[in-house]
Amino acid sequence: MMVKKHAHISASVYTSHVPAIGAALDLGKSGEPYWQPVFKGYEQSKQWMKNNKPDVILLVYNDHATAFSLELIPTFAIGCAAQFEPADEGWGPRPVPVVKGHPELASHIAQSVIQQDFDLTIVNKMDVDHGLTVPLSLMCGQPDAWLCPVIPFAVNVVQYPAPSGRRCFELGKAIRRAIESFDTPLNVQIWGTGGMSHQLQGARAGLINSEFDNAFLDRLISDPESQAAVPHIDYVREAGSEGIELVMWLIARGAMDDVAGGAAPRVMQRFYHVPASNTAVGHLILENQ
Ligand code: DHB
Ligand code: FE
Repeated sequence: MMVKKHAHISASVYTSHVPAIGAALDLGKSGEPYWQPVFKGYEQSKQWMKNNKPDVILLVYNDHATAFSLELIPTFAIGCAAQFEPADEGWGPRPVPVVKGHPELASHIAQSVIQQDFDLTIVNKMDVDHGLTVPLSLMCGQPDAWLCPVIPFAVNVVQYPAPSGRRCFELGKAIRRAIESFDTPLNVQIWGTGGMSHQLQGARAGLINSEFDNAFLDRLISDPESQAAVPHIDYVREAGSEGIELVMWLIARGAMDDVAGGAAPRVMQRFYHVPASNTAVGHLILENQ
């Protein structure tokens, strides 16, 4: 067997981040009939996580005007701190563990990706909201400490202009090159979070489009290149104003082996459920071969 000398990406995980899911867990309501089918969809995934524990997770998510206000809106921001506190989103911080970072790998990714012409904002102090903590809760349950260091990678999808799907996909390729040039043999997972279809405001509040969501999952798996070409307006029209969060999934997908000429990933989990609060819940695990 070839011994790896550099870091590598073993798998990518995709999931919605509905804040009410965090509240359901924190308040002991996950067994209620409304929530049961949601958490059931992650049972196998939690087991997979235990069997496939990474050394580091690069978690692509969006901040919801929590750490960044409308006074300062980075398009792409990488968390280089040693730790990140759960944010107070209005009801006090979630009672979940502090997120430990990985400053060495994060700084290396910043160095490499900026040199590849993506202008990342370097963040040395920030709190993390449900965009980051809910995916961790769904995949890891309620541990006393998260299973490994997590590098928060925040994307602006809250205030226009948001980055295009194409740019997110290209950024994923650059992140892959960055990770593969880190000279410590770390097993890294990259997560793409947010989505699926939902709209929280205006005349179309409550919009869900299962057909669009499932076609997105199909194409994300087998033809991410063409999904990356889909313009914002299609997401907003078909998947609602907050459906635009889905472009973040393209960052994780762009970092997978097949995009760089390797083998197609194995689909280890695929789950879709409506409703969860105002959002359709979608979830995938793709493993590099
Ligand atoms: C909901 C979904 C989100 O993505 C979010 O950021 C806030 C609320 C919801 O479904 O209620
Ligand atoms: Fe959101």
